[in-house]
Amino acid sequence: MDDNVFWHHATVTRERREKMNLHRAKLLWFTGLSGAGKSTLAHALEERLHQRGCRTYVFDGDNVRHGLCRDLGFGIEDRTENIRRIGEMSKLFVDAGVIALTAFISPIRRDRENVRRLFQADDFIEVYVKASIETCESRDVKGLYKKARAGEIPDFTGISSPYEIPEKPEIVIDTENREIDECVDSLLVSLESLDVIPTMVV
Ligand code: ADX
Repeated sequence: MDDNVFWHHATVTRERREKMNLHRAKLLWFTGLSGAGKSTLAHALEERLHQRGCRTYVFDGDNVRHGLCRDLGFGIEDRTENIRRIGEMSKLFVDAGVIALTAFISPIRRDRENVRRLFQADDFIEVYVKASIETCESRDVKGLYKKARAGEIPDFTGISSPYEIPEKPEIVIDTENREIDECVDSLLVSLESLDVIPTMVV
């Protein structure tokens, strides 16, 4: 980094923004195979958080690859760079007082741990969206597994490129045997118990 580049300190701090928002800023990092339900869950959770008055933003792998990361492919090095950029970007969003939700396969443990290291201990919440390769392949929402099996997509996660299961994720959501609504309810309970959002009194 250039020695002539300095850090400017803002007077409007994250703490002041959080006070105004009435909730903590956090990064919810969804990881899992393609088709496991990361984007669906992140958006459904965002909807519920928004209804509860939280400031949120979802970064979605497919969307980000149309813009910020359009120059990157699916080789291991490019995926590492993809995750690095998203990590830095979501750090800015957390500083902006937002609950950032990211939905990226992020298959390499080391890449996810490097993002974790950018954050204070409990600001990074890893959410492992668990579904077996067989289930994801049978869902095949985008028809990509079929193409990957036919050899039309190289380096496809779970088929010809690795996915490293998280060792100690803060939250595990099994989408294999549960409906989306149920998964979101259980995510909200986890977020309440992690003090991200206040407990709902019903
Ligand atoms: S990551 O590995 O770098 O985290 P990312 O989440 O951005 O991946 O993008 C994954 C999405 O890109 C998948 O949901 C799928 O729609 C699409 N895709 C295209 N090619 C591949 C591939 N080779 N492996 C996995 N996903 C792919």
